[in-house]
Order: sequence, then structure tokens, then C-alpha cells
Amino acid sequence: MDKFIIRGGKPLRGTIATGGSKNAALPILIASLLTDEPCVVRGVPRLRDIVTTLRLLEFLGKRVVQDETSVRIYSRKGLKTQAPYDLVKQMRASVLVAGPLLARFGGVRVPLPGGCAIGLRPIDLHLKGFEQMGAKVSLEKGDAVMSAGRLHAARIALRFASVGATENLLMAASLLERGTTIENAAREPEIADLAVFLRSMGAQIEGEGTGRICVRGRRVLRGAEHNVIADRIEAGTFLIACAATRGSVFLQGARPGHLRNVLKKLQEAGCKVQASSAGIGLSAAGRPNPVDITTRPYPGFPTDLQAPWMALMSLAKGQSMIRERIFEKRFLHAGELARLGARLSVDGDMVCTDGVGKFSGAMVMASDIRAGAALLVAGLAAGGKTEISRIYHIDRGYEAVEKKLRRLGADIIRVKS
Ligand code: EPZ
Repeated sequence: MDKFIIRGGKPLRGTIATGGSKNAALPILIASLLTDEPCVVRGVPRLRDIVTTLRLLEFLGKRVVQDETSVRIYSRKGLKTQAPYDLVKQMRASVLVAGPLLARFGGVRVPLPGGCAIGLRPIDLHLKGFEQMGAKVSLEKGDAVMSAGRLHAARIALRFASVGATENLLMAASLLERGTTIENAAREPEIADLAVFLRSMGAQIEGEGTGRICVRGRRVLRGAEHNVIADRIEAGTFLIACAATRGSVFLQGARPGHLRNVLKKLQEAGCKVQASSAGIGLSAAGRPNPVDITTRPYPGFPTDLQAPWMALMSLAKGQSMIRERIFEKRFLHAGELARLGARLSVDGDMVCTDGVGKFSGAMVMASDIRAGAALLVAGLAAGGKTEISRIYHIDRGYEAVEKKLRRLGADIIRVKS
């Protein structure tokens, strides 16, 4: 397995372009299942999860042509309505094929994704929503088997503002001519981007980005072209890395409006932030101030930046509290940060960090995408050599991350095993 070797302590300086959003591209690529017409998605990042998604679309019956940053999806033959376990277990977002296939063909079989390093990851909210739209749901040999003569419009109130459940139900509703409403819908920018794509396919959608989305679909949707929004989590990770290394960077194309809460916290930590339509700039000098965070659904502090933030706060001038309210066990990175010298105590959904003056390089291991990102942040700030193993986790969410960091002056190499 590949690993990163970092010789830290160098401030990140310079300008890089922000990539396309992984978490917007995944549902939008899957939404191509809603039509037989060609779709073109541009600004798609080259990541493991994207490769998995394209393999899934091909398995189901689509023909996929990928060039540098765009993907063209064509119909090849009739679509299968069963997603394969080996792809679903690699990427839980594969469950998003359920909404399009169930709405188009009246039946779908999707393996339950199973848990992962950050929690159980159930899909009960997805399944309950489909039942409200008329589907019969049964669990057979680890698969969710759904059947419905025809789904019908419904008024669905989500117990929790689940991103995936909102996306799955939004795609299913886009094929229903009567109006469906999703209350307590997730408000993430990636959902709004999916809604823009579905609207260009012919669905009428209002309220995306608010807690209440109204959809009036069509029985047949057309193909569409779309440019994916910039990846706010990649951008936030690089900004936090710049703060941890006391550098000065500019992220072209990053959207300040998608990171308001994070930019506010970075300013409270003592960073200088420049936000404009061209992107986001940040400069930092000295140790950060301690700043408490609690992760919440958008527009709250994003759970996907909790781990990188913990790395930064482990270097703060004092004590800070980090509360994780979205996933039940998203602190696996705490132990690895401690190996670099962080002083942390974990108590339920809270971590208290006692900031230290500096980290010392060590061998550490990534356990999921964002935990790996936290180790990158810490290794870049640490004195000496840090070796990060299991970096396939990082490759799932950050395209060519070592190349982008080297462009900002970091001393990082990928060692192929
Ligand atoms: C999406 O996951 C993102 N993934 C995650 O990013 C992100 O952390 C998460 O939203 C929260 O923002 C993609 O977009 C591909 P949820 P998703 O449904 O849809 C519980 C990354 O690093 N829940 O909002 O799975 C669930 O267990 C990834 O890029 C139920 O209980 O998130 C969790 O505790 C990690 N029942 C919470 O809700 C359900 O039916 C949030 O889940 C669904 C979810």
C-alpha cells in the first residue's frame, strides 16, 4: 500500500485551483440513470470514489467516456436494477442508485452498505421515504429489496436532515408528475447542485438549500450538461493546513458562501481571510487561538472538516472543545494525532485538545478520508519526518493531493509500495 512521506515545518505558500466537488459529482453522475439520453458532467475530480461510481454505472448498463475533467454518459442497453455488493461495500454512496432505478422501473435491489470507520451508516431514512412513496421494502440476505407498481408523490418529513436520503428521494421524486415535498431536507450546497442538474433534465424543483424542497417531476427526463461546483471540503482542508503551517495561500474557485462558518472559525483562530468571487485567501502567523466547534448539518460547521480542525486546534494556544454531532464515532484520528504529540482527551461525542507548541514527526495511519486529511495537516506542521500509511483513504477524497501541496512548497512524496 502506498504511503506519504512528509518533511514538515514548511509554511504553505502560493496559489492552487480548487477541484470539483466529490460529494456533488457522485449524486449527479448517478442521476444520469434517470434518463436514456446522453449526459455530460464537467469538473469531475479524478478520485477513487468517482472511478467506483463510473464502474457502477457501467455495470448497470450505461456507457461511460471520461476525459481529463469531464464524463459523458450514454445508454448502452436496458439498465439492471441490482447494484453489486462489491461496489456498494467500497462506496456507500452507491445506495443512491436506488431512487432513480426504483422510480424508473418499479423495483430495485441494493446491498445495505454496512458500517465504516465513522459509524453504522444506516439507510433507514432512505427506505422510510421510499415506503411513503408507495414502495414495499424487505431485507433479504443483506440487500434492501424494494418494489412498487409505480411510486406516488408524497409529503416526506425526515427525522434527520440526511444528505444521502435527501438526494435519493429528490431523484426518485423527479420522475413523479405530482408534487413531492421533502421536509427537514439537508441544505448542503451539493444538494443544491444536484437540484440544478435535475432541473436541467426537466424536473421542477423549488426550495433546495432550504429545509423544504418541493419537486414536480416528469415521467421522462431529458439528458443534460452540468459543471460541478467547487469542492468546499477540499478547500477547507487546504485553508486549515495553511493555518497550521503559518503560511499564506489563495484557493482559486473556492466559494466563500459555501464555507461561511469555517471562515468565521478560522478568523476567530487568528487567521486573515480574504473572500471574493475569485476564491479564498488565508494567511496565518503564529499559533492559532483555541476555538471550540460543534459539527452540525449545513450551514453549521461541516463534520468532514472536524478531523482537520482537530489537528489545527492541537497546536492552539490553549484548550478547545470539539463536539461531533453527526457521526457516532468520528474520532479515530485522535489517537494518530497523539502519536505526533497532540494532547487530547475523548469523552463520548466530545474531544478536548490541550494545544501544544509543535508536533514531532512519526509513523501514522489513515482510517478514513478526513482522518487521513487531518494527518496530512499535522504532518505538514510537524518537525521532522511523518509517514502516513493507508493513503488510499485520502485518495478517495483528495485528487493528486501531494502534487497540489508540493505546488505550495510542501516537502511531500508518495512512496509506492
Ligand atoms: C454525506 O454522507 C457525505 N457523503 C459525507 O461525506 C458527509 O460526512 C455526510 O453527508 C454529512 O455531511 C457524500 O455525500 C457521498 P447523512 P451521508 O445521510 O449521506 C445518519 C466524506 O468524507 N443517518 O447526512 O451518508 C448517519 O448514520 C463523506 O466525503 C441515519 O441514521 O450522510 C449519520 O450519523 C463522509 N439514517 C448522519 O445521519 C439514514 O438513513 C448523517 O448521515 C441516513 C443517515
